[in-house]
Amino acid sequence: MQEQATKQPETIVPSQLAVAQPETADDIQTDVVLDVQSLEVYYGAFRAVKDVGMPIQSNKVTAFIGPSGCGKSTVLRCFNRMNDLIRGARVGGRILFRDEDLYGDDIDPTEMRSRIGMVFQKPNPFPKSIYENVAFGLRVNGFTGNYPDAVERSLRRAALWDEVKDRLKENALELSGGQQQRLCIARALAPEPEVLLMDEPASALDPISTQAIEDLIKELVNDVSIVIVTHNMQQAARVSDETAFFMVDPDDRAGYMVEFDKTSNIFTNPNDERTEAYVTGRFS
Ligand SMILES: Nc1ncnc2c1ncn2[C@@H]1O[C@H](COP(=O)(O)OP(=O)(O)OP(=O)(O)O)[C@@H](O)[C@H]1O
Ligand SMILES: [Mg+2]
Repeated sequence: MQEQATKQPETIVPSQLAVAQPETADDIQTDVVLDVQSLEVYYGAFRAVKDVGMPIQSNKVTAFIGPSGCGKSTVLRCFNRMNDLIRGARVGGRILFRDEDLYGDDIDPTEMRSRIGMVFQKPNPFPKSIYENVAFGLRVNGFTGNYPDAVERSLRRAALWDEVKDRLKENALELSGGQQQRLCIARALAPEPEVLLMDEPASALDPISTQAIEDLIKELVNDVSIVIVTHNMQQAARVSDETAFFMVDPDDRAGYMVEFDKTSNIFTNPNDERTEAYVTGRFS
C-alpha cells in the first residue's frame, strides 16, 4: 500500500514483467493437439451428440466420463474419423488437429489414423502371429525401415516385450486378455502416432492387468497425447490430467459436455453441481 501511495517514475526491471508464476508444473499450459469446436454427431436423423468443445492438450491424459449413452465413444471416434465407417453417421462442427481441419478435403483418413491411433474396450488382435499384429500397424502406413526393430520397439513401449519375445510367431489369440490389450496398444503405437484414443481399454480386464494398462498410460503420455474413456472414476482420477464430463439431455436424448477442467478440479471442486452429483455418486 505504502509503495502505491508514493509511486516512483517507472523503472521496469525484468522480474516485474513476469506474469504470475504457475504454482505447479500442472498449471503450465501446454499446446493444444485437438481443438474441438461445436462438435455434433448425427446417426441418421438422431442427434446423438451436440455442442461439444474442448482443447485437448498435448502430452496430457484427457479422460471422458459420464453415464452410458452420453456420447463418449461417439466423440472419441470423431477424433480419428472412425464414425466415417458407420453408415448414416454425420459429423458437424470442427476439429483441428494441430491447425489442420481433421475433416478437410485434403485429409487421407487412413494416413491420419496412423497419426491418431485407437484402442477399443475389447482387445481385437488379428488371428495372426504376435509379430504380424504389430507389423501390420507399420505396413498400413507403408513403413520401409527395419521391421523386427520397429516391432520390438513397439512391444517394449507397450510393456509386453519381455512376456512375448520368445513367442513372436505364436498366434496372438493365445495371449491372455491383458496381454492382447497391450498387443493392440503396441499395434496402435507402431506407426508412432501423436495421439492415442482409448475407449474403456481396461474395463474387460482383471485388476492386475488394469494396473498394467494404467502404468503404461502414465509412461506413454511423455510421448503421446492420450484420450481415454472410462466408467471407472478412480481410474480417471489416477491417470488423467484433464477430464470432460458428459451427460444426456433428457429433452432430446442428445449427449452434451457439462464441464471440462483439470481432473483435480472435476473431482474435488467442480464448477457444475451436476458434475459434483456424478463424481460423488449422487447421480440419479
Ligand atoms: N452406430 C450407431 N448407430 C446409431 N446410434 C448410435 C450408434 N452408436 C451410438 N449410437 C447412439 O448414440 C448415443 C451415444 O452413444 P455412445 O456409444 O457414444 O455412448 P457412450 O457414452 O460411449 O456409452 P457407453 O458408456 O455405454 O459406452 C446413444 O444414444 C447411442 O444409442
Ligand atoms: Mg462407449
